[in-house]
Amino acid sequence: MRGTNGTQTRSQTGSQTGSGSDELIFFVNGKKIIERNADPEMTLLTYLRRKLGLTGTKLGCAEGGCGACTVMLSRYQTHTQQLLHHAVNACLAPVCSLHLVAVTTVEGIGSVARKLHPVQERIARAHGSQCGFCTPGIVMSMYALLRNNPTPKMADVEEAFHGNLCRCTGYRPILEGYKTFTVEGGCCGGGGRGGGCCMANGNEAETSSEEDADEASSLFNAADFAPFDPTQEVIFPPELMSLTKGQRSASLCFRGDRAVWLQPHSLDEFLRLKWEHPDARVVVGNTEVGIEVKFKNMVYPVILAPAFIPELNAVTHTEAGIVFGAACTLSHMGAVLKQAVETLPPHQTEVFLAVLEQLRWFAGLQIRNVAAVGGNIMTASPISDLNPVFMAAGCKLTLIDKDGRRVVQMDDMFFTGYRRTSLRPQEVLLSIEIPYSTKTQFVSAFKQSPRREDDISTVTAAMSVTFTPGTDVVEDLKLSYGGMAATTVLAKKTANRLLGRRWGEELLQEACTSLAEEMTLDPSVPGGMVSYRRTLTLSLFYKFYLTVLQKLRQQGVNVEEVGADCLSATEIYRPETPSSVQVYQAVPKDRSPDDVVGRPMMHLSALKQATGEAVYCDDVPLYENELYLALVTSSKAHANILSIDTSAAECMPGVVCCVFADDIPGSNATGPIEYDETVFAHRQVTCVGHVIGAVVADTQLHAQRAAKAVRIQYEELQPVVTIQEAIATQSFYQPIRTLEMGDLEAGFKQADHILEGEMHMGGQEHFYLETNVTLAVPRGEDGEMELFVSTQAASKTQSLVAKVLGVPANRVVVRVKRMGGGFGGKESRTTILSTVVAVAANKLKRPVRCMLDRDEDMLITGGRHPFYGKYKVGFLNSGKVVALDVSYYSNTGNSMDLSLSVLERALLHMENSYSIANVRGRGFLCRTNLPSNTAFRGFGGPQGMMVAENWMSDVAQSLGRPAEEVRRLNLYVEGESTPFRQILDQFTLERCWDECLSRSRYQERRAAIDLYNRKNRWTKRGLAIVPTKFGISFTAAFLNQAGALVHIYTDGSVLLTHGGTEMGQGLHTKMIQVAGRVLGIPCSKIHISETSTNTVPNSSPTAASASSDLNGAAVQKACETLLKRLEPYKTKNPKGSWENWVTAAYFDRVSLSANGFYRTPDLGYDFETNSGRAFNYFSYGVACSEVEVDCLTGAHKNLSTTIVMDVGHSLNPAIDIGQVEGGFMQGLGLFTLEELHYSPQGVLLTRGPGSYKIPAFGDIPTQLTVSLLRDAPNDKAIFASKAVGEPPLFLAASVFFAIKDAISAARAESGISGPFRLDSPASAERIRNACCDRFTKLCPPAEPGTYTPWSVQV
Ligand SMILES: Cc1cc2nc3c(=O)[nH]c(=O)nc-3n(C[C@H](O)[C@H](O)[C@H](O)COP(=O)(O)OP(=O)(O)OC[C@H]3O[C@@H](n4cnc5c(N)ncnc54)[C@H](O)[C@@H]3O)c2cc1C
Ligand code: FES
Ligand code: FES
Repeated sequence: MRGTNGTQTRSQTGSQTGSGSDELIFFVNGKKIIERNADPEMTLLTYLRRKLGLTGTKLGCAEGGCGACTVMLSRYQTHTQQLLHHAVNACLAPVCSLHLVAVTTVEGIGSVARKLHPVQERIARAHGSQCGFCTPGIVMSMYALLRNNPTPKMADVEEAFHGNLCRCTGYRPILEGYKTFTVEGGCCGGGGRGGGCCMANGNEAETSSEEDADEASSLFNAADFAPFDPTQEVIFPPELMSLTKGQRSASLCFRGDRAVWLQPHSLDEFLRLKWEHPDARVVVGNTEVGIEVKFKNMVYPVILAPAFIPELNAVTHTEAGIVFGAACTLSHMGAVLKQAVETLPPHQTEVFLAVLEQLRWFAGLQIRNVAAVGGNIMTASPISDLNPVFMAAGCKLTLIDKDGRRVVQMDDMFFTGYRRTSLRPQEVLLSIEIPYSTKTQFVSAFKQSPRREDDISTVTAAMSVTFTPGTDVVEDLKLSYGGMAATTVLAKKTANRLLGRRWGEELLQEACTSLAEEMTLDPSVPGGMVSYRRTLTLSLFYKFYLTVLQKLRQQGVNVEEVGADCLSATEIYRPETPSSVQVYQAVPKDRSPDDVVGRPMMHLSALKQATGEAVYCDDVPLYENELYLALVTSSKAHANILSIDTSAAECMPGVVCCVFADDIPGSNATGPIEYDETVFAHRQVTCVGHVIGAVVADTQLHAQRAAKAVRIQYEELQPVVTIQEAIATQSFYQPIRTLEMGDLEAGFKQADHILEGEMHMGGQEHFYLETNVTLAVPRGEDGEMELFVSTQAASKTQSLVAKVLGVPANRVVVRVKRMGGGFGGKESRTTILSTVVAVAANKLKRPVRCMLDRDEDMLITGGRHPFYGKYKVGFLNSGKVVALDVSYYSNTGNSMDLSLSVLERALLHMENSYSIANVRGRGFLCRTNLPSNTAFRGFGGPQGMMVAENWMSDVAQSLGRPAEEVRRLNLYVEGESTPFRQILDQFTLERCWDECLSRSRYQERRAAIDLYNRKNRWTKRGLAIVPTKFGISFTAAFLNQAGALVHIYTDGSVLLTHGGTEMGQGLHTKMIQVAGRVLGIPCSKIHISETSTNTVPNSSPTAASASSDLNGAAVQKACETLLKRLEPYKTKNPKGSWENWVTAAYFDRVSLSANGFYRTPDLGYDFETNSGRAFNYFSYGVACSEVEVDCLTGAHKNLSTTIVMDVGHSLNPAIDIGQVEGGFMQGLGLFTLEELHYSPQGVLLTRGPGSYKIPAFGDIPTQLTVSLLRDAPNDKAIFASKAVGEPPLFLAASVFFAIKDAISAARAESGISGPFRLDSPASAERIRNACCDRFTKLCPPAEPGTYTPWSVQV
């Protein structure tokens, strides 16, 4: 191998003789990096975080699915002399692939200390950052977009975010903030685009009408934003440009522990290397190989990286079509095809359009920017989205090896088995030719996945038909499906049968019958959803059939006309940019500007979060002698441990020791309430993911590799996995709870109708963007240990760590700066990890750290309890419910954890907002072999209320009455009593209901929907309005207490500490607002550093929505004490400043430190006697949602949602609206999208964002209105406010019932009426299966019990 200047390159010698590595040169934030030991297996993310200490870029999943790790890569393309900027996932980018690349991270574009970039500032000021863990990634996606296109449209912004997830905000504020950069955005960034600049005009607190002069509808003021000037961006390093020009044809070799990276500079060299190393793995984008190495434990000793070889990147226009080099990225291919579509005659571009349609929903932009077309083909995945199009279109592939090239047709001979192709070992894919279509050819592509954005297909398809010119006679037909076999397949039999036939109803019928026969699936097939997938093959063909009919008619061919009612089935989904309204009551105009209570103040960490300066637990710099820990967990749901063999693990590089139960100096027994768990499983395991031991090593990689090498022998025992299995075997924890009021028997006698039903609600993964993490640092004396933990429960962590270490609690300090989301998932289950890390740190007397990988976190830590509800409801002809008997079964898992309280809250919400005279609820805790389920926003309330809304909708449906009338009829009124005998006072629900009806224009909408549904057969719209009443307080009375500690320093600055933790919900911001008001000083003088057990002891977990109430009151008391102490100095010097008074008090030897304590009065409900107050008060809300369902695919669109929420006098409307929207979107995930799949053996199959889908940007309702109920002071909480964290989540049930309403309309078309069972979530599969029609009839489900399903409903 020779360089262009004729000199021999070092890499050639390296690759042949096995000597050292080349230098890897790249730039990070303008700084040159020369790496002489680049490890081919190291990702850019690890390099940034661990080697460069750039911790702004976050790790959320390590699989390209969350976008938290987004950075921008820039390179100079010599042949076009262009600078290319791309957003990419640092978690998948091999550091070796970065030679001569400029990396820009969030730290590189701005900082709070230096200067903020507008992209950072606007997301923060628009309230688009709550926990902030997703924020740097979102900032970088937006930044990369603006580098390429300084004046984007909203559609560009939405596309840029296809690969980013946020679990907190509900996305609306992020879009709103970034809208200001767009042409539609209303803000020109100071540039004065059409109609002047809002920065000059200002738009704060717009009032919505003259009567409501204090009604505000803007949460931020764009006039406060710094202008955006694209000319001021960081320049591409000039040195890098000259290096690029000079070294463009260098070959490279990098060697690591287990792999060598060979980067050939020419095609010849590539082919020679492939010849020498036929087993070498070719890597281009690494989006597939990266996953294999990380999650499938694959080791590829030789990696060939041909990404920069010109022939593999070439795009050539030929007579037959366009030829793309195999290393062309999907983004590049998309751009070329788009241009071709714009310039070529339409009949030539049918295939191109089909490819573009698939690319629209292919992964996120970060993946498309690096993933190559060749990588997609060669992965040979059965659910590839492009391969069906390539196959249906008859694309040609050029394969090449050292001896020559051959061209093959991409047909069913090419894919020879699951992820196998007909390529020979020494061959590689050179290029693909995508053909032009002909005048009589029509092509369509379809992708159906649980979520539209960035999701794997359930079924993906492409269809191509060619007609005899001027006729509707089929000359050629290719029907290609993915997701229906181990490879992409052609439905050849069906296609052959239809050749020569005319395109009409008869052909359709035959096609469907034939496809139903040909596209079969084993009922146990991986991925499940068997009937649904089979039905989809027919439904998608039907869509194609209708589309082609239309096109034939447009060409003047005499075919039947597509009925107007069927047209919507042919429409291609185009997302609409969401619009939103937020309404809240502005503070009185005469209020002091220093008093920020009630104002939409920005989250106080938001700016730091947007710049990456905010420090999360794993961002704490490494201690010099720090070690890393990886867990060893059970692979069996229920088994005796026969032996544990650590010999292989202990010999592995970097390993320091293994840790097991024997290393515990204190007690192995643990658990948040009952000590019914062990820190390390001892003899028996009771769930997959049960912690058995741990391995400690010098690095994360070494620890994780060694943990996988620990061998455990099991004796398997029969597991109990599902609720139904637990019921059958009576596997319950005690107690069984009952809550009863009235006379049930009399109630049922009085009823005109009695109806019975049941429903199952799936669980939910918290999916906090930051996984669990603990860093334990032994202090070296008296058994002291300091722990940095991402936990909602600092004191509980302290006590359980002390217990396992056998030391008094006063030796353990737990510190929490902030969490990257919690949602209940970090209330008790965090101690699974912290106790283990503490034991290891204690054993080794060295700092030990562990941050769980996403898959581990999902496997081990449990989530929201799945519930099964069974009910019998008695009601009058009017719809008035008079009797209810309901039983709840929760899948509790392998320990009690907080499950009894969760179940109790479900029972305390079993009637939701409805008054029922005679009621009995029973609750059962199912003991199963799943990881213990735990707290999750709503804490059982949503499950309790969901079953209630289900019987309420059944009642309406069975009577044929409008559901909203029946709901309204049954609503509580002021002064009525709940089944737990709590009188409802200050009852604002009716006001919320009426406002929601009018704001949503309910009746108008209903009429429009009915009309729409009459006019459309295959898309149906639905509408539902749902109330919520949520009890505020911990149901365990003792937890309703809080403490605060306030120090005033002599310079007047205030350090505030309280018992609550910050997880994005804005608690610290609200507490500073409270302290500011009480002390009468601006918030800028007050600081909260962290939550710690040595400042405020015995704190309750930050949970139950009550933290502002409890801690706010404690802060108020502490501040009042201090204020009282300062009073004499104020009186003495009334014109003096705060600093004067503080100094005077100090010199007078007055203590400037005080604590405050608060306990909620008069609480203490007793289930045994059904007496005592359960809740301090209730939060109320109502939501109305409209959806549109595609009856053929089961997909749905969230068209509109209107929420009216009573949050009392809001402490901070921006934060409260953020909680309403974020909670609502999390509920939307729970009720319509998120599905955890477990195998019948209790193995969690969905362990990351690739398979578990939380709502994405595109799931926001197109119109979203949130109104905080005005004039609703609450006399039971701080400054008349109300709790808001959990209550809004349930309002997403309005979407579920709107979907059910739409399905009812679809079923009516098939003559089916009356109540029907729809379990939660209303996934696309469930929706499609419920919309019974001619296609579903052809694909009936297999008889249960005759096969072992891939997953079971737990
Ligand atoms: C988050 C995420 C989302 C995704 N979404 C989708 C999706 O929506 N639809 C979909 O279809 N796929 C999806 N994928 C899969 C993946 O992105 C694609 O398969 C991608 O095109 C692979 O390209 P790559 O360059 O990254 O491949 P790499 O990982 O670099 O390589 C993949 C395979 O192809 C082989 N290979 C690559 N080039 C050649 C060549 N020239 N000759 C011979 N072998 C070669 C490699 O050896 C390897 O086996 C997704 C992946 C991720 C991580
Ligand atoms: S961490 Fe990279 S995409 Fe999630
Ligand atoms: S703010 Fe987006 S994940 Fe928390």
